[in-house]
Amino acid sequence: MAAAPGAPAAEPPPGATSCSGCHAPAGRVSAPSIPPLAGLAAADMARALAEYRAGERPGTVMDRIARGFTAAESEAIARWLEANR
Ligand code: HEC
Repeated sequence: MAAAPGAPAAEPPPGATSCSGCHAPAGRVSAPSIPPLAGLAAADMARALAEYRAGERPGTVMDRIARGFTAAESEAIARWLEANR
C-alpha cells in the first residue's frame, strides 16, 4: 500500500533499512561509486531492482542484492524509501 503523502512513516518492509548502509540519506554521499537513491522515484527504483535481478543491468553488488528480493518485496522497499528518505 502506498502511504498517503504526509502520512507518518509506516513500518519499513523487510530489507528496506539495509539500503542506507551503502546509499546515504538525501544530501549526503557515501562513496562516489554508490549512486544516491534520494532523487529516484519509487517506480524507477523498482525498475532498476528488477533489471539487476534479471541481469539486464550491470552491477557490482546490486545484482546480488536485488536477487534477494521478490518483485513485490522490491516494490514495497522502493515505495518505503521514496517516502522515508
Ligand atoms: C553493499 C552496498 C549496497 C547496499 C547494501 C545496497 N546498495 Fe544499491 N547500489 C550499490 C552500488 C555500488 C550501486 C551501483 C551499481 C553497482 O555497482 O552494483 C547501487 C545502485 C543502486 C540502484 C541504481 C541507482 C541508479 O541511479 O542507477 C538502486 C535503485 C539501488 N542501488 C537500490 C538499493 C536498494 C533498494 C537497496 C536495499 C535493498 C540497496 N540498493 C542496497 C550499493 C549498495
